[in-house]
Amino acid sequence: MDPVEYEMLRHMWFLVARVPDLKNGVASGSILGEELVVYGNEGSVTVAQGFCPHRDVALRLGQLRDGALECPYHGWLFETGSGRCTCIPSLPPGRGRVHTALRTYPAEVAYGLVRSCLGDPFLPLPRLPEYVDDSWRLGACEPYTPNCGMRLLTESFRDKARFPFVHADSMGHVDKVVKPYRITRDGRRLGWSSSPGSEGVPEDLAGEFSHRLDYHITMPVFALICVSSPSGGRRLVAQVATPVSADGKTVRQFWLAGTDAESAAQESRPGRRTRLERQVFEEDHPHRGEPVVRRAHRSTFTFCFR
Ligand code: FES
Repeated sequence: MDPVEYEMLRHMWFLVARVPDLKNGVASGSILGEELVVYGNEGSVTVAQGFCPHRDVALRLGQLRDGALECPYHGWLFETGSGRCTCIPSLPPGRGRVHTALRTYPAEVAYGLVRSCLGDPFLPLPRLPEYVDDSWRLGACEPYTPNCGMRLLTESFRDKARFPFVHADSMGHVDKVVKPYRITRDGRRLGWSSSPGSEGVPEDLAGEFSHRLDYHITMPVFALICVSSPSGGRRLVAQVATPVSADGKTVRQFWLAGTDAESAAQESRPGRRTRLERQVFEEDHPHRGEPVVRRAHRSTFTFCFR
């Protein structure tokens, strides 16, 4: 990876875990090769270095005890927020505390997802559109680890020319010719709209393909599609890529799906649409983890940093 880009990415927010992944209050994550531990709960989450400063044990194997992270090897406790070591069980009582702490990083929970940043963040967190409010039903779905870089993954999200070749099972027959569409730019956000049209889509989903599709990409890795029905109901799928390796060649694909109240009421088979979205992602990565499909690194999006 270009060293300038690497340094800039260290100052950007990325997703590291889902709140439901906090088993025993602890989960693991990674950004640009930095192994991280995530601990706490939705109300107070801490992101810190992934290995214990004592003997380098993986802290993802630890657990929450009395609100602090307990290392699984010698039981040192690291408090939430500061990462400060507050207890060393092997020391005699009254011995005083050892002055050590985990290196911690900025952390925030939104939409059931934990975000963090390796340096001081220099850009605000990408947000869902303003029309997504508390009446929406939102769920963070199980992430994937496809074998491609974050740019290709983000590009792929809006790549309509692949539909008839990759997504025939989920989408039916889609015209191979992509009609021209106009892209607008607002700061870091690109947007465009279309109506794909499709034949052979399962009957209960056929309406999806005559609705308006609004795409947004907030550079570099936040991609979103909002489907609006003529009656006003909306649903969305958002994809956020996290570069988990230092060279950017391995990515963790987080995604969430949501419906507004009207769209949820129209669902004849609850959960069907989310399952369809999952199928689409799985069709994109039929050989998950195998380097068979793509070159991992390409500088398509570097213009957004200049
Ligand atoms: S290795 Fe973590 S407390 Fe010893």
